[in-house]
Amino acid sequence: MRKRILAANWKMNGSKAMLKPFFDQFFKIIDMSSLSSPQHKLYFGMPYLYLEGARSYILNGKITLSAQNCHWAESGAFTGEISPVMLQDFGINTVIIGHSERRQFFNETEETLDKKLHILKKLNMQVIYCIGESLEQKEAKETLKVLQMQLKTLFTALPNKSDLERVVLAYEPIWAIGTGLAATPEQAQEVHRFIRGTIAEAYDIDSAEKISLLYGGSSNASNIVSLLVQPDIDGFLVGGAALKPEEFGRMWRDLSQTP
Ligand code: 13P
Repeated sequence: MRKRILAANWKMNGSKAMLKPFFDQFFKIIDMSSLSSPQHKLYFGMPYLYLEGARSYILNGKITLSAQNCHWAESGAFTGEISPVMLQDFGINTVIIGHSERRQFFNETEETLDKKLHILKKLNMQVIYCIGESLEQKEAKETLKVLQMQLKTLFTALPNKSDLERVVLAYEPIWAIGTGLAATPEQAQEVHRFIRGTIAEAYDIDSAEKISLLYGGSSNASNIVSLLVQPDIDGFLVGGAALKPEEFGRMWRDLSQTP
């Protein structure tokens, strides 16, 4: 059985002062025993500066902390960057890469992602790899072509099926991010099925069946259940709703109760 995953992406939000009230409130809403389920995993993608403070709330590793990006080199003259080795130095072994906001605003390309995938593989780190099409690409009916191109980067950098075991894929249509207009369950399912099929072709059916595919884009406590019942949606990468402890707590409750 593949894992169900709820992953927060706080993006460039939050504060040091917010951590304690957030987690206090979040833990009040959820059933704490659900965090021990081997089938259900909770991640928090935090701004680098807050990762260390958030460590007090991960309950001996029951919650996984993740960075939202990293550099492709282990060290060097890259002013202002954070290397994956530095993340490991702080006990962080998971990184979101390829987020559309990084592609859009920070010149993340297939080439830089390829380099990041290589270093993360070398360091045995877990990757949450994001893909997704823009509104223009969707309207031009290019969704599948764009996703294929983005997936090819992943397949080329990680050619062995054993490499995929450390990858979680997040389909985040750019037109749904932060817009309040989530993909419909049918739309998301259709794309997720396509992604799983593409993985089966690139590796094999077993790998495709094992990988967790997350949906991201205006997911919230009101729409998560209808998305969760889709056979190829295994979880969510959540922006705005993950900053609200009650709402995110309700999302975790629903996800952790879904087999
Ligand atoms: P929203 O949930 O705010 O739409 O953001 C989705 C996202 O980009 C998560 O990475």
